[in-house]
Amino acid sequence: TGPLDLDEPAGDGGRQGAADPCGVSLPEGDTPLYEVPRLEDELGVDRLRVKHEGMNPTGSFKDRGMTVGVGAAAAVGVDRLACASTGNTSAALAAYGARAGLETLVLLPAGKVAAGKVAQAALHDARILEVDGNFDDCLDLVQELANRGEAYLLNSLNPFRLEGQKTIGLEILEQFRDEEGGFPDRIVLPVGNAGNTAALYKCFRELVQAGALPREDVPKLTGVQAAGAAPFVEAIENGAETVERWETVETLATAIRIGEPVNAPKALPGVRETGGTAVAVDDAAITEAQRDLAREGIGVEPASAASIAGLRELRDRGVVDADERVVCLTTGHLLKDPDAATAAGDDPEPVGADVDAVLELVGE
Ligand code: F0G
Repeated sequence: TGPLDLDEPAGDGGRQGAADPCGVSLPEGDTPLYEVPRLEDELGVDRLRVKHEGMNPTGSFKDRGMTVGVGAAAAVGVDRLACASTGNTSAALAAYGARAGLETLVLLPAGKVAAGKVAQAALHDARILEVDGNFDDCLDLVQELANRGEAYLLNSLNPFRLEGQKTIGLEILEQFRDEEGGFPDRIVLPVGNAGNTAALYKCFRELVQAGALPREDVPKLTGVQAAGAAPFVEAIENGAETVERWETVETLATAIRIGEPVNAPKALPGVRETGGTAVAVDDAAITEAQRDLAREGIGVEPASAASIAGLRELRDRGVVDADERVVCLTTGHLLKDPDAATAAGDDPEPVGADVDAVLELVGE
């Protein structure tokens, strides 16, 4: 850096416009890799760390993709940004679209998006359409809009999104090595559209090709789905080349209530070639894992807790060994879905405004 030049234009606080190919930033990434000593003990693995993507600016990993995707859209000068979403993508697109000063349209499955996410999209001034259908129907619509040239698509089918999300892989390797002196054996993550799975695989493949990561050090990519929305797990279990769309899906983990993981062609080889696997967990196991993380001080939304629930299931089955060093990815913040959090926690106890009444309840 040279001497201070007062004639230089001031930085614009991340509000880069159309001419700036570097993206629109809030800024995102650099999320914590937490120790979880009690869960590590209970699950019986050598090391367990939690990479909490809920600590991004809008509370989910989507921000990493949106900084690149919306930046590219601004650079080429599109008129309208659009996405289908189970909630988090819409929140991130609304915020980054607002930052870039672009019109934003989001299509949500009616009644199936958690309150915090709708609140974000609304306040960041996205046009919100509630579709009488599920997420997959919404994505069909947005793809059609994009095909007709009516909108620029920012779902994870957009390759710029995945380029941004690769940074999760880079950060995990860096942070884990700095603390542990090696790389994790396995990364466990929730799967919806399998965008993150595809992005991590691309990240590691490129590192191997560049000679920066020995092939044998690539972590085993291990996907987790809710039992009520598990087409990706079905494909892995059947050794199938493609994923069959589930027309009916249901889970309290609404973020991953998805019947057709559109990035499966990129993600299935990632799971297989890294020696990973995929597993389904029921909603009760997801809620239990959400509470377990909360007891370690880490607040996540249900879909995120699926990673811990999946690890527990794979330990029970003996698929994950006791000597493994594991990173679980938690993808979204607890406040995204306040209703699920309230339901998973203990009920508040009513009490009069009287200290004796309080002491009677809590014990002296
Ligand atoms: N976890 C959370 C919290 C999510 O919001 C999503 C996807 C996933 C996991 C799955 O990630 O698609 O890369 O496999 N949410 C999208 C949305 C679909 O619209 O917010 P994936």
